[in-house]
Amino acid sequence: MSEKVRIGIIGCGTIGSVHADAYAKVANAEVVALCDILPEKLKEKAARHKVEKTYDDYHKLLADPEIDAVSICVPNDMHAPIAIAAFAAGKHVFLEKPMTLNAELGKSILAARDAAGKKLQMGMVWRQTPEAVVVKEAIDNGRLGEIYQIRVKLIRRRGIPGLGGWFTTKAQSGGGGLIDIAVHFLDLSMWITGFWNPTKVSAKTYSKFGSPMKDYHYVDMWAGPPKYDGVFDVDDYATGMIRFGSKATLSFEVAWACNAEDESYIELLGTKGGVKVGTDQTILRTEVDNRIADIKLYYQKNSDRFAAEMEKFVDAVQGKGEVAATGEEGVVAMKLLDAIYKSSELDSEVEI
Ligand SMILES: NC(=O)c1ccc[n+]([C@@H]2O[C@H](COP(=O)([O-])OP(=O)(O)OC[C@H]3O[C@@H](n4cnc5c(N)ncnc54)[C@H](O)[C@@H]3O)[C@@H](O)[C@H]2O)c1
Repeated sequence: MSEKVRIGIIGCGTIGSVHADAYAKVANAEVVALCDILPEKLKEKAARHKVEKTYDDYHKLLADPEIDAVSICVPNDMHAPIAIAAFAAGKHVFLEKPMTLNAELGKSILAARDAAGKKLQMGMVWRQTPEAVVVKEAIDNGRLGEIYQIRVKLIRRRGIPGLGGWFTTKAQSGGGGLIDIAVHFLDLSMWITGFWNPTKVSAKTYSKFGSPMKDYHYVDMWAGPPKYDGVFDVDDYATGMIRFGSKATLSFEVAWACNAEDESYIELLGTKGGVKVGTDQTILRTEVDNRIADIKLYYQKNSDRFAAEMEKFVDAVQGKGEVAATGEEGVVAMKLLDAIYKSSELDSEVEI
């Protein structure tokens, strides 16, 4: 391998560009090729990111011996086929979230990784936020005591992305707000606490705003404009409770759209302290000398979380560190999502 890890980015949409910009900040990485099925987008992104080599088919990019690793930034249904093909071609893989459409497919990605002996890093970028790192540190130092409850709130009043496009078409996305955004906070909750043993789930998903599409009123739309001849067959709200054995629980509410104000945080309740992740100020609610006390945690806020995650991936590829989020953790998150959808369908608690 050359001194720099030579990267190919597959999928040049929103996140593909974010990856290209982030790798540009990593000393040991160089983006050498881009791939997209849309020729115009490929041309535009190649010019924007100053990348000479372009491919209109990921098989061709994977056959390029001058590429060491790939970032997979395509719609969710293509994550597994491209990741498996990439490992078969001997590439290291950075795979965007969600890992894939379900846990079984996730396991087949792990098998391909193991057969190839290459690195796999999941795109769980929230772990790289300075606040999450600081809170994890406080937890690891015992400042929260025994954590018994996690509250996850991720509410968008009107935030359905790309109405009618791949995000809202189950065959391509695997689901709606739950698989798209809750996956970040569910992963973050498990990573911060180290609770990688979800055992049971009781949950309900709803689809109340996205269909009929013409009735969806909004101010702005990520990945828009709407495609009214497209499909909306996914969840736009989900709520439920996850058990981690008998010692801890996680309650969640996630909405792409609902009639409530925007909110986004994880709150951890422990016997010695409690803390919210996702607010402007990180305050440890605790006791000092038998008095109720708030401790404000200070930290550098302006780091680039995507660059931090690419740096860890590149270091792992070069044997200088561990990947920032493992494929095994990706499969746990997929099992959780599978169980949430199943619990909703069955109207009962399910085992994971
Ligand atoms: N980590 C994050 O915060 C974050 C943010 C946004 C999106 N994502 C994830 O990144 C992925 C892409 O999302 P996006 O918002 O960039 O979507 P997007 O629609 O903007 O971009 C996807 C791109 O993939 C291309 N594509 C589709 N099929 C392809 C194929 N077979 N080969 C090559 N290119 C192909 C499309 O033409 C498009 O340009 C999704 O899995 C999404 O969940 C992660």
